Amino acid sequence: MPKTSNTLPKGLKAWKSLKEHYREDMRQRQVRDLFRRDNDRYDTFSLEACGLLLDYSRNIVTRKTMRLLAGLARQAGVEPLRERMFAGEPINVTEGRAVLHVALRSDREDWFHVGHQNVTEDVHRVLDAMLDFVDRVHGGVYKGYASPEPFSDVVNIGIGGSDLGIVMAREALTHYRNPAVRLHCVSNVDGTQLADILRIVDPRRTLFIVCSKTFTTQETLTNARAARAWLASRLGEEAVPTHFAAVSTNHEAMDEFGISPDNRFGFWDWVGGRYSIWSAVGLAVALYVGSENFRRFLAGGRAMDRHFREAPLERNLPAIMAGLAVWYNNFFGAETQAVLPYDGRLWRFPAFLQQLHMESNGKRVQRDGHRQRVSTGTVIWGEAGNNAQHSFYQLLHQGNRLIPVDFLAPVNGSGTWQSQHNLALANCLAQAQALMEGQDETEVRRGLKKSGLSSAEIDTLAPHKVHPGNRPSSLVLFERLDPETLGALVALYEHKVFVEGAIWGINSFDQWGVELGKRLARGLEDAVADPSAYAGKDPSIRGALEAISRWRD
Ligand code: F6P
Repeated sequence: MPKTSNTLPKGLKAWKSLKEHYREDMRQRQVRDLFRRDNDRYDTFSLEACGLLLDYSRNIVTRKTMRLLAGLARQAGVEPLRERMFAGEPINVTEGRAVLHVALRSDREDWFHVGHQNVTEDVHRVLDAMLDFVDRVHGGVYKGYASPEPFSDVVNIGIGGSDLGIVMAREALTHYRNPAVRLHCVSNVDGTQLADILRIVDPRRTLFIVCSKTFTTQETLTNARAARAWLASRLGEEAVPTHFAAVSTNHEAMDEFGISPDNRFGFWDWVGGRYSIWSAVGLAVALYVGSENFRRFLAGGRAMDRHFREAPLERNLPAIMAGLAVWYNNFFGAETQAVLPYDGRLWRFPAFLQQLHMESNGKRVQRDGHRQRVSTGTVIWGEAGNNAQHSFYQLLHQGNRLIPVDFLAPVNGSGTWQSQHNLALANCLAQAQALMEGQDETEVRRGLKKSGLSSAEIDTLAPHKVHPGNRPSSLVLFERLDPETLGALVALYEHKVFVEGAIWGINSFDQWGVELGKRLARGLEDAVADPSAYAGKDPSIRGALEAISRWRD
């Protein structure tokens, strides 16, 4: 049994003050009243950095709340932990590893070390090699086996951190793509994605990237072997080394798979999978948008790192957003948080954030082995805003749960027509306003009366039409969804997750919770292929296997 302790964060003075502040001042507070009483509220609770404007004035907070939340982060040791991360210390305690994804977006002159190893040099060596490869592919210098034409299709095979960031960036940066390259992503093991892609690509012009930090992941290796067999059946075994590149920390496994040493791009154990899009894992993204745009993406992340490291917690975007998340999670008892981008190109951003938040902070044991009793881990969900309005906003407006929202929106649209994007922006602002203001019964009754309803009809309808309001939201507004901005956004949420983890005292950089299921799946592979081979005793597994053998074609 894990040890129990009360130190972090419950034993902190700021935690106790926040509890009291919540109970005595804030539980019943209406944000609209706070606005009415304070003409400076927007100025006080908005902040611009790295091309992002964070408006958090619609949250259920006062100056005191924000002071206490910054104090909480300070007392929880966010600043020294942050410095230890940047200094390359092994803050991933359960794996004894440094956490240095920030080094992946460093300037050449920056100074990042793990032990005595200067990792900035390593990072730039791999980055240069990777972007040189990208340039050679784009220039038609590196082509398929015995093919006169350049590659037209790139297929990234990976899952989790070796897929989600790539898919998210492919969608987000479509506008910046090299039109000569199509990027496909294969993650699920069931074979459907791969089959659909192989149906439409020309083997002579297709480059596969096997992307896996460990190069042991069942889904990825299964898909990679299937893709390899397909390619060999079309072009011959000798074409495989030319048509396969790989990204991994596991060189032996890449050897075994037959990845040519010229086509492999390494990274390091101090990069977590969900923080790896900046590393060679971004190869597929770079092939899609070109090396220059990939460097712009890195620059956006680097700018956010500097802001995170240098700005005081009170004026620090990731720290403010993390403080708000803790405020709602631990004091208001919010179970989830919605992320709603008003730009269709960000439609996979919530899925990317899910792994980032939930694999990082979905833990109940602290760094020192103590059991954490407060609720940890933010459950993230979301969808492109306008679609979501016609799907689940009903629950946001009138349900009886508190669901804080992050709205994300560029001012200049990513599509062709700014006039259409203006409508999206208008919707975004209107939703934030509606969530906060709501509509009370008097107003509802007045409206119904105006439309000529009888008082009996008004009595029946009015309660259904009331919007209680006071639903908190933050708005992250930016000029346009370009590579720098995407980099800044991703790094913003990475550091937000860092601060949350530090406050809860948990190690945000391991993921032991995914291991058990993986191990059990390996044990069941044979039984699913041949249910009669199952020797286990689990009655539900037995039942499912029995149905599998009955229904399988
Ligand atoms: O199962 C979870 C996980 O380990 C993630 O943390 C990781 O991003 C994903 O699997 C893929 O791992 P790999 O890159 O080693 O194939």
